[in-house]
This record gives sequence, structure tokens and C-alpha cells, in this order.
Amino acid sequence: MLDLGARRIEGRINRVATETVQTNARVVRNVKRREGHGLVVQNRKQEVTRELARHFAFDVSVGLRGKRKSLPFRYLYDSAGSKLFEQICLQPEYYPTRTEASILAKFSPMIAQLLNNRAISVIELGSGKSTKTKILLEQFKAMAKEVVYFPIDISDAILHETAVSLTTELGINVIAIPAEYSKGIKKANKIISKSRIFPRKLILFLGSSIGNFEPREAAAFLRMIRETMKEGDVLLIGFDLHKDRRMLDAAYNDKNGITARFNLNLLERINMELQGQFDVDKFAHIAFYNEKLRRIEMHLVSKEDQNIYIAYLDKFFHFERGETIHTENSYKYDMHQIKDIAKGSGLILKDRFMDEKKWFCLALFIQDDCYQKR
Ligand code: TRP
Repeated sequence: MLDLGARRIEGRINRVATETVQTNARVVRNVKRREGHGLVVQNRKQEVTRELARHFAFDVSVGLRGKRKSLPFRYLYDSAGSKLFEQICLQPEYYPTRTEASILAKFSPMIAQLLNNRAISVIELGSGKSTKTKILLEQFKAMAKEVVYFPIDISDAILHETAVSLTTELGINVIAIPAEYSKGIKKANKIISKSRIFPRKLILFLGSSIGNFEPREAAAFLRMIRETMKEGDVLLIGFDLHKDRRMLDAAYNDKNGITARFNLNLLERINMELQGQFDVDKFAHIAFYNEKLRRIEMHLVSKEDQNIYIAYLDKFFHFERGETIHTENSYKYDMHQIKDIAKGSGLILKDRFMDEKKWFCLALFIQDDCYQKR
């Protein structure tokens, strides 16, 4: 969720708490005082909802106009979409999650050692259920490091659950931020610098979410992250690697049809939030590897000629039979591209961790001090 005008920070989530805290600095004091309790930074609900609907409506009206229809992928992740995505991660064909988790399990002692401070702020972009992150957090705990964990996600339903389970299971401090990536990371940094605790940061961007950006956007995104980094901070990113297309096609077309439901949920979201009249049965999910562009493409294809009315926009949208809405890409990388993207973003690839089959790579970056001078 966008964190427009978010000022009020509410509630200790593992109580029925209602106490309102006014400033970020106070939140951190609060967290310190109440060791083992999590917080979710909250937005002004109604305003944000209205604002979000306006943005969504605008993007839908632009995206569905004319030929070559497409919608920004972030709209796939409403609360239903985020839950479906968690299920995708458990599907036997969807290897990235398992593989990334195995890499983390193997290398987390090494990663933890690279961060030689005793106290660290861990910021995670698109944290979801934080299942994989737990592996790292447990390692930090085993090494007696003190951690404040800032999960950032657009689904606050999932954030709530996660914050509760992490604080109770691991007893670490959690400050959950429901926001889009760039606003969320800025907010986390503000809290860190205002409170002056745990200035050393580990920033996580897992799950090959970097692959959902266009390569050029990915570089801009990394530059944005780099701006928030200081000397000694570390950035860990999960990249899915280029591989045999049969394996890729299977991963994005799971037999249980969860990816299909995840994709089609976007139409249901339009129906719900913008009073659209999509008949979801008249569209089908397709995903395939575009070998030339080295990306999985996910589309919704119209099964027949149809006109769809969206009441919020008071407009009809025409779909021909076989016409698609392009909903997401998932770019697959190789080591050269990973190095290039780092170079173009003022980062240095310090280390990389891979599974034995080289299906997936966790790349560890630090900032390149010389970059600014150029
Ligand atoms: N980050 C995930 C990935 O790139 C998102 C995802 C899941 C996805 N299923 C998808 C992207 C299907 C495109 C198509 O793997």
C-alpha cells in the first residue's frame, strides 16, 4: 500500500493495542523498550484507499486502451494476490523459492560474518511472509547479533501476520512498513537515522523480484537503493538465472493452476475496486519463456471478442479473440549481466552465492565509493 501522508504509527500488534504513537523516533524508543514486540507503521486508511483507486483506475485506463494491452505488475499483489503468490512459492515446479532458501541455509553463516557489526538493521523490500529471511535472522540470533527488522510490503495483511510471528517466534524487533519499495526504504532509513540505533544496514531484495523490472528500470532501482546506503552497508539480491526453457515454462505454469489464479486475480481486482465487469472465465492465463529477451512473459488472453465495461471509468474496453493483456515479466540473468547492472548503478559485486546446479544466485553488493566522483 502507498504510504501517502503516513504520519500516524499505530499499535503494538501482538496485543490488542490501540495506543497511537506520533513520531518515528518514538516508535523506535517504543520498540527498544518493549523488546520482542513488533510494530506496523500504519497509513491513514480512507485517504490512501481513495488515492490508490485513482492511481489504479488511471493505470487501467491507459493499460487497456488500444492494442498491446498491459498492466503494471504491482497490481497483482493485493491481499488475495499476495496469498496466491505465497502458494506459488510452494508449488513443486516453482524452483526459485526452494533454491534460494537452500542457498541462504548454506551461506547464512558467511553472510552474517561479512556483517561484522553486532547490531544491524535489516531492511527487506517485498518481504511477504519473510519465510526465507527467517533463515538469516535465526543465524544472526545464533551469533548474538542484535537486529531490528524492517519488512516492507504492499500487502499489509501479510505484514501483520509476519510481524506477529517473527516477534513471537524469534523475539526480534520488527517495524513493518506497508508501502511500495522506494517510499518504504526511505521511511525505514528515516527511522534508522532519527533514532541513531543500528546504523549498519543489510538490505534484502529476494525472490528474483529484480527480474520483474525491465533491465533499465532495475538499474534505476538499484541506484535508488544505493542512494540510501552508507559505507559498510550491504545489499543482497536474489537473481534467477537463465536456464533450460522447459524448466522455466513449467515453473510459471504449475499443474495446480495457482499461477493462473494469481494472474486472473487481477481481473477480479478490477471488478472489485473499479466496478469492472470482467467474466474471468472468458480469459486464460498464459506464461512462456521469451528466449530472445530472456524473460518469462505472463499474459491474460481473451477467449473471445468482447467489450468490457468498467464503471469507475465509465468506459468500455474492447478485446479481440486471442488478444492479450501483458501482466508481468520475469527476466533471467547471467553473471555478466549481474556485474554490468552493478557497475551501472554504483555498486560493487562483492560476493555471490549459488546452488550447485547454478539455477539461482544471491548476489551481495556494497557501494562503490568512486562512483559519485565520476
Ligand atoms: N518474482 C516472481 C518471479 O519472477 C514473481 C512471479 C511469480 C511471476 N509467478 C510469476 C512473474 C509468473 C511472472 C510470471 O518468479
